[in-house]
Amino acid sequence: MNESLETLQQEVLERIHHCNSETEIEEVRVETLGRGGRLTSMLRGLKDLPAEERPRAGEQLNRLRKLFEERIEDRFRQIKEQARAKTLKDEWIDITLPGTRWERGRIHPLTLVMDEIIDVFWGMGFEIARGPDIEDDYHNFEALNIPQDHPARDMQDTFFVSNGMLLRTHTSPVQIRTMESRKPPLQIIVPGAVYRHDDDATHSPMFHQVEGFMVDRHITFADLKGVLTHVLQQIFSQDTGVRFRPSFFPFTEPSAEIDIQCLICGGKGTILEGQTCRVCKATGWLEILGAGMIDPEVFRFVGYDPEKFSGFAFGMGVERIAMLKYGIDDIRLFFQNDLRFLRQFG
Ligand code: DAH
Repeated sequence: MNESLETLQQEVLERIHHCNSETEIEEVRVETLGRGGRLTSMLRGLKDLPAEERPRAGEQLNRLRKLFEERIEDRFRQIKEQARAKTLKDEWIDITLPGTRWERGRIHPLTLVMDEIIDVFWGMGFEIARGPDIEDDYHNFEALNIPQDHPARDMQDTFFVSNGMLLRTHTSPVQIRTMESRKPPLQIIVPGAVYRHDDDATHSPMFHQVEGFMVDRHITFADLKGVLTHVLQQIFSQDTGVRFRPSFFPFTEPSAEIDIQCLICGGKGTILEGQTCRVCKATGWLEILGAGMIDPEVFRFVGYDPEKFSGFAFGMGVERIAMLKYGIDDIRLFFQNDLRFLRQFG
């Protein structure tokens, strides 16, 4: 008995010592201490021993069981610790490395303002229409009642492409294109790029306009005033003063230019201690858009009966609105792609 116990002890401890995984150690445990395990069988065999040998044998076997349990437990813990140490080593990352920085894009200030204008009109049920940047003379001028000898056609203003085509000088030709293909009622805005031979701190050869028009039966100048006052107060602020001045455009009659109270001096014409406001040139007002009732001549060009239908139209410069909104004094900043400028928006 003693002999075999010693062998058992040696063998089992040896095996435990050589175990390298949780599975292996579990196998040893089952083989030794499980139901049919070697030690378990011996414990079960105690009852067959002569009565006087039982206590001593029992004591020895129990000592062995305790020993095995402890060693198994120890080895088990060691294996787990080794595995953990290995994982920590293998998966080590240097969290002090600088890493890759992802620059976050911004929305261009002109897009911001354009989106804002579109939102306001969208909220009032206007649709969005677009037209070609390369236009023909007919849609850009003729059908808008701009006669052949009008100064706007001059080389100084218009970029001509070839055989009568040109870069549209305004978004107004989309009024014509829309009315040619559709019947009233119409409530449309036309955001887009326009081109003129002009280049200084307040003029860019390419800039943006939002054109708009509403045509139906019984549209009056009161509708024009109501819609545009609302739009301007949404874009600037609810308490911005708005004024309508008589003006002239070939495609509207009557025509108006619309001013808002100067955003810099608040309409006073002066800033700090009586200095004159340079933004509004001391007038207290800023011209912000052109508008009017669509000229009956224009309706005739598109085949609408001016006795039946009436409408208003307007056009606004997006750069100008953005410049006033953000206090930008040079239009070229929008197109130079200087990140120091662009990062300040959106
Ligand atoms: N097309 C004009 C321009 O580029 C702006 C304009 C004025 C548009 C009056 C209109 C309007 O529709 O009614 O200066």
